[in-house]
Amino acid sequence: MSAEPLEIYLQEEQLGRQLRQDVRVGLTARPKCLPPKWFYDARGSELFEEITRLPEYYPTRAERAILAEHADEIATRTGVKTLIELGSGSSDKTRLLLDAFSRHGGLGTFVPLDVSISALRQSTAEIAADYPGLRVRGVVGDFTRHLDRLPAGGGRLVAFLGGTIGNLAPDERAPFLAGMRAALEAGDWLLIGTDLVKDPAVIVPAYDDAAGVTAEFNRNVLRVLNRELGADFDPDAFAHVALWDAEREWIEMRLRSRRAQRVRVRDLGLEVDFAEGEELRTEISAKFRPEGIQAELDRAGFATRARWTDADSLFAVSLAQVR
Ligand code: SAH
Ligand code: TRP
Repeated sequence: MSAEPLEIYLQEEQLGRQLRQDVRVGLTARPKCLPPKWFYDARGSELFEEITRLPEYYPTRAERAILAEHADEIATRTGVKTLIELGSGSSDKTRLLLDAFSRHGGLGTFVPLDVSISALRQSTAEIAADYPGLRVRGVVGDFTRHLDRLPAGGGRLVAFLGGTIGNLAPDERAPFLAGMRAALEAGDWLLIGTDLVKDPAVIVPAYDDAAGVTAEFNRNVLRVLNRELGADFDPDAFAHVALWDAEREWIEMRLRSRRAQRVRVRDLGLEVDFAEGEELRTEISAKFRPEGIQAELDRAGFATRARWTDADSLFAVSLAQVR
């Protein structure tokens, strides 16, 4: 079957409005910051896929190993008709779930949702071609805003993989999970991947690789601003920084201005000064402890039914059910 046309919850115009708002607020804040969803234009999505193949970036391999081992159990225990994936990207690991559902039967519809239209176009075409008989409904949307529009009923499993929950600020996580709970019905399922707290000597290189791919990914957000808002950032004038915050147990990505400089954002009529060494915050990636994940799910109304880790306890995948 070929993929259905993408369902668009986020129009270009809305995206543009949100980008302008986020950039105006972020670049005039102290410290300066930019929200992470703007990393993922076509080039950003490609760079992220390259990150997942880096020797230093362990989360993808660890999560894949967990899914490979437990996909059959996930398919048989949940027995759902609909699999929804938030922040689906390439949906590459998700194929392990689709394969397991094919073995056990019953899954009718796959709904990948992402802000990246280019990633969705590619993933929906490839998955529709490889899983004939599966209905593939790609949705261009924002998982912090559009959960209430997810397809209803029939037994649903929401997959939120890649540790992407850790890219939300801690005070955004509870409302996000509560919103997800509200969008689901009792008995529906959540499969959520979380990167675990561990030796920072393992974590930091995953966000600051030797080949410089993560640095390019981080600087890509400046290219997005140049193209979409007529800004004149010189990406090479910013150094990639990945810091481990031991107290808050997260990695913080920043872009450090290599010199004093003024940047113009034409479409906002904004001029922004950077001091030499000034840092623009672009993303956090929170790391979790098993008890913490379970408590957060519990507070949002999800009962944890299983939690698995890889052989090196790098990453965890939790299977939870709406109470
Ligand atoms: N799930 C994939 C990709 C993780 S990267 C994996 O595990 O490898 C994070 C993904 O979330 C990207 O594809 C990005 O485009 C998407 N994303 C980021 N913020 C989003 C938002 N607010 N709404 C929807 N998708 C978002
Ligand atoms: N969800 C991924 C993570 O937190 C996203 C990610 C990987 C990322 N590498 C990055 C985000 C570098 C910004 C910069 O691991």
